[in-house]
Amino acid sequence: MHILHIVGARPNFMKAAPVMRALGTWDGVRQTLVHTGQHYDANMSDVFFHDLEIPEPDVNLGVGSGSHAQQTAQILSQLEPVLLEYRPDLVLVYGDVNSTVAAALVCAKLLIPVGHVEAGLRSFDRTMPEEINRLVTDQLADLLFTPSADGDENLLREGVAADKIHFVGNVMIDSLVRLRTRSEKSIVLAELKLVPGTYGLVTLHRPSNVDNPETLAAIMAALYEVSRELPIIFPLHPRTRQRLEAANNHDPGSRVQMLDPLSYVDFLALQRLAKLVITDSGGIQEETTYLGVPCLTVRENTERPVTVSIGTNVLVGQDVKRLRTEVGRIMAGDQKRGRVPPLWDGHAAERIAHAIMARSWERRA
Ligand code: UD1
Repeated sequence: MHILHIVGARPNFMKAAPVMRALGTWDGVRQTLVHTGQHYDANMSDVFFHDLEIPEPDVNLGVGSGSHAQQTAQILSQLEPVLLEYRPDLVLVYGDVNSTVAAALVCAKLLIPVGHVEAGLRSFDRTMPEEINRLVTDQLADLLFTPSADGDENLLREGVAADKIHFVGNVMIDSLVRLRTRSEKSIVLAELKLVPGTYGLVTLHRPSNVDNPETLAAIMAALYEVSRELPIIFPLHPRTRQRLEAANNHDPGSRVQMLDPLSYVDFLALQRLAKLVITDSGGIQEETTYLGVPCLTVRENTERPVTVSIGTNVLVGQDVKRLRTEVGRIMAGDQKRGRVPPLWDGHAAERIAHAIMARSWERRA
C-alpha cells in the first residue's frame, strides 16, 4: 500500500505529522511526502518539520506565492507528473489551503483515490478562500475524516455518501498532546521576559483583517489600547508584516511586541500560559479550546463551531469595541470556561490509519 501525502502551508504540517507516524506503524505501508512549497520561508516551513519530526519531503514543487489562481495552477501542472511517476494507491490532503484543493483536483483527474483529513468544516462564508477549498475538496474526496460531528452533518447534507465519512477527531490535537511536554521545557517566556498568565498572545493574517488598511488600523489601535492593561506578544505572519510596514503602523509607546513567526513548540508554550489569545486563525481556535485558554476570534463566523459551543472561543468579529469589552471581562476573571470536544484525545491519527487500512484498495487507472 503506497500512500502519498501532500502538504504546502504551515497549518498542514501539524496535521500530517501524526498521520504519517500512525501509518508508519502498519506493516506494508510505503509513504511519500510531497511539499508544494506554498510556504517556503524557513520560519513558516522548515522549523515545523524539525519540531514535528516530519521526514524531509521526497519532492518539493517550489511553487511559492502568487494570486490564488496562479498558485493553484502551478500546483496542478507540477503535481500531475509527480503523481504519474509515483503512482500512489491513495493520496492524503490536509485542511483547507490552496495546496489541498489543487492536489485533490489532480488526483480526481488521474483517478487516484484521495482522502481529506479535516473534512466537513464549513464557515458558510464563500468570501473566505478556504471555504471554496473545503467545498471542492470534500466533493472530490473518496475518504473524508472529520474532526467533529458538525463535519459529518455538513457532508451528509451536501450529499456525500455516509460510508465515505469517518468521524476520527482532531489530528492537530494529536500533535499538541505529543509536543506538550517539550513545550514545557521551552525557554521562550524567559527570553521574552514574560510571566505566565500576564500577557496576551495575538495572531492575525486573514486577508479580511489585514488587507484593508482601515480595518487593520482599527484592529491595531484596539490592540495598542489593550496593551496598556495587558502586554501583547504578536508573532507576525509575512502578509501581516508587509501590510503593517506598508502602512507604517507601529506604536513604540505601546506594549505590543512584534516578532517573527515562532516555532511550533515555542508558540505552544506561549499559548498554554497566555491570559488570553486574540486570533483569526482556524487552528488556534481549536488549540486554545483544548488548552482551556480564553480565545477571542476576530472573525464574523467560524468553520469550527464546537470551539464556541463547547470550547473557550468567543467570536468578536471586526467589532473592536466588543473586542475591548471581552478582554475586560477576561481581565476581571469572568472568562468563558469550556470543555474538550469529543475525540480530541491525541489518537485521531491512529483512527485514520485504521480506517484506511481496513479498506481494500484497488487501482482505478
Ligand atoms: C495560507 C492559507 C490559509 C492559512 C495560512 C496559514 C490559502 C488560501 N490560505 O494563507 O488558509 O491559514 O496559509 O499561514 O491557502 N509568504 C512569505 N513566505 C512564506 C509564505 C508566504 O513571505 O513562506 C507571504 C507572501 O507574500 C505571500 C503571502 O505571504 O504572498 C501569503 O501567502 P499564501 O500562501 O498565499 O497565503 P497565506 O496568507 O499564508
